[in-house]
Amino acid sequence: MQPCDALIVACRASTLAPGQGWGLIADAAIGWRNGRLSYVGPRDQLPAGAIDANTRIHPANGALVTPALIDCHTHLVFAGERIAEFEQRLEGTSYAQIAEAGGGINATVQATRAANEDELLAQSLPRARALLADGVATLEIKSGYGLDLESELRMLRVARRIGETLGVTVRTTFLGAHALPPEYRGRADDYIDMLCAQMLPAVAESGLADAVDAFCEGIGFTPAQTRRVFTRARALGLPVKLHADQLSDLGGAALVAEFDGLSADHVEYSNTDGVLAMAQSDCVAVLLPGAFHCLRETKKPPVADFRAHGVAMAVATDCNPGTSPLLSLRLALTMACNPFGLTPLESMLGATANAAKALGLSDRGRLVPGLRADLSLWDIAHPAALAYWLGGPGALQVFSAGVPLLRDGVCE
Ligand code: NIG
Ligand code: FE
Repeated sequence: MQPCDALIVACRASTLAPGQGWGLIADAAIGWRNGRLSYVGPRDQLPAGAIDANTRIHPANGALVTPALIDCHTHLVFAGERIAEFEQRLEGTSYAQIAEAGGGINATVQATRAANEDELLAQSLPRARALLADGVATLEIKSGYGLDLESELRMLRVARRIGETLGVTVRTTFLGAHALPPEYRGRADDYIDMLCAQMLPAVAESGLADAVDAFCEGIGFTPAQTRRVFTRARALGLPVKLHADQLSDLGGAALVAEFDGLSADHVEYSNTDGVLAMAQSDCVAVLLPGAFHCLRETKKPPVADFRAHGVAMAVATDCNPGTSPLLSLRLALTMACNPFGLTPLESMLGATANAAKALGLSDRGRLVPGLRADLSLWDIAHPAALAYWLGGPGALQVFSAGVPLLRDGVCE
């Protein structure tokens, strides 16, 4: 074999290799070349030639190495906060009532429209940093708090700048159909007309969005409106995903599956037909326990149905200022286990291999030769500890394509 550029030794590994459960290796060596893994296995089986005079050796002091975590659903670019709304909800006003009164998403739209690009970056960067410290090397970021072309493009540019600044991979999603902006009040179809005729082509042209999302819900957009957005997005060559069946069953899971969607997200109220349609089209179910928790929902996603029909489940933070001010993907893993009922291994696959699939990425999410050297190092005895602790010390180090991202972390 060709010599590795770098090799981590004195470590344990959880590879999550297909069919191998956690894929634990007690005394491992992990090497890469040109940012891609070239050896993952027991140290004493390292082939001759894996090391030459130029190979950087990183002793990891017994750390556990996992695939770097992937947060496949966030809204972390926004301005302001919604703490007053949090208090209102605790005093008995519902999320839907707040939205109908012009608060909720539209409160954040007002603040986000007023912020310039640098201000938006300055406010959003610490949130992305918190996820990185939590072991995340790939994250998705949605627009959807601008709701006019200029502000949506600004959000997407900020999302890309976060990736460049931190060295993480950012996948961007255009969520223009998140809420009805105030200037279109009572004219939802006109807004969707404008979105399809003007915003979507301009967003596609800009190259700033990797996918298109919508909020299909009583307080969002109807299935018919969502269908129009998806038809246009697909015609422009953009893949789709959907905030589906979060607060009620509008058949969102089946709708997004019909458009070969990457994922149906939330899915608490999805029915069995929707689950079957998702299985057929290989659409990932993205579970978002942070929003479930903060909205004090009681209807859990149909996890047993997803399992029975072989629908891949991912887990994400949904980091947003309204329904999920959550800055730890590990805490989402914990909540996917309890209350949602995933096993710790399912939960971990949900933030690695299945999260990669939800983003349409096939080059990461497991420690397997040929995939990217995206790794997180932890001071834990077993990988299930990532779903077991509610919080705790962050990652010891995070690598993206073989580049260490945490200053003062191990193996720098
Ligand atoms: O994923 N459901 C709609 N969108 C977000 C909430 C956004 C907000 O309240 O600001 C969600 O829960
Ligand atoms: Fe969301």
